[in-house]
Amino acid sequence: MNVENMSITTPNEKDKLVEEIKRLKREKKAVVLAHYYQRPEIQDIADHIGDSLALARYASTLKDVNIIVLCGVHFMGETAKILSPDKKVLIPDIEAGCSLADSCDAAEFKSFLKKYPDHTVISYVNTSVGVKALTDVLVTSGNAVKIVETFPKEEKIVFGPDRNLGNYINSITGREMVLWDGACHVHEQFSMEKLLQLKKDYPNAKVLVHPECKKALRLLADKVGSTAALIDYARSNEAKEFIVVTESGILHELEKLCPDKCFIAAPPEDAGCACNECGYMKLNTLKKLYECLRDEKPEINVDADIAEAARKPIERMLELS
Ligand code: 13P
Ligand code: SF4
Repeated sequence: MNVENMSITTPNEKDKLVEEIKRLKREKKAVVLAHYYQRPEIQDIADHIGDSLALARYASTLKDVNIIVLCGVHFMGETAKILSPDKKVLIPDIEAGCSLADSCDAAEFKSFLKKYPDHTVISYVNTSVGVKALTDVLVTSGNAVKIVETFPKEEKIVFGPDRNLGNYINSITGREMVLWDGACHVHEQFSMEKLLQLKKDYPNAKVLVHPECKKALRLLADKVGSTAALIDYARSNEAKEFIVVTESGILHELEKLCPDKCFIAAPPEDAGCACNECGYMKLNTLKKLYECLRDEKPEINVDADIAEAARKPIERMLELS
């Protein structure tokens, strides 16, 4: 079958790509890991879907696998490679970056840390390997509070790069961590005014908010949590309506798991733009996934010395969470 120049325009073409991807996965002993913000068709063909923490765990425990295709963004692929150095790690689109990771340059972070020589460095996993190598322990939004609480209250901590997640952890744990001033362009874009309107329109709806959002929105939440935590909450809560304040790719899994519930995506400030979609996450397509499995590229490689330095805070996170 020739699927070389296929662009997905018909269900038939999509089915052919799905068939080819399944065949290549079998033949090459490849596993596809996908984040909840991926396109629905990618989530559907993945062997495992999850939040950043679950994807890191899968990457560290996979057995009898030659290739990991990380359908997510670049830092997730780097984490997978660091945890599974003997496996080939591929990503469908090498340009799938992360504005939050980009908001923290490793050299600038290093200079910043010089001002706080007696501080423990805790970083969000949405960072480059260079920043990870400067970090004592990494966290995801799924384990951040728990990990920070393993340190004594008086511990001096620098937290990077997300000021919103850092502020959330400070408010929950009563810490005063020094925060790097970074943010995610998607989560910062949600509109407070439109969320208040949605709450009026759906008075019985529970509000689910990712901790990368600004404090004012978090204060309106019934549940603040990682993508996986928000999904768990929606599954177990008896409410029938939920306003979802995170990247809209998560709605696919929510609707699959809870077909009898209604999920309303919160809009960004600028109604003319689709900022509540992460453009980086959406760069990965089914066709690129097929081509990446076929050609075994783009591949993610990490310099051995930096990988060694970055592995320690990742492993520490996995031990503590
Ligand atoms: P989770 O760890 O909650 O999946 O979040 C990852 C992410 O990139 C959020 O923008
Ligand atoms: Fe990065 Fe934001 Fe996209 Fe998550 S949603 S991958 S933090 S840019």
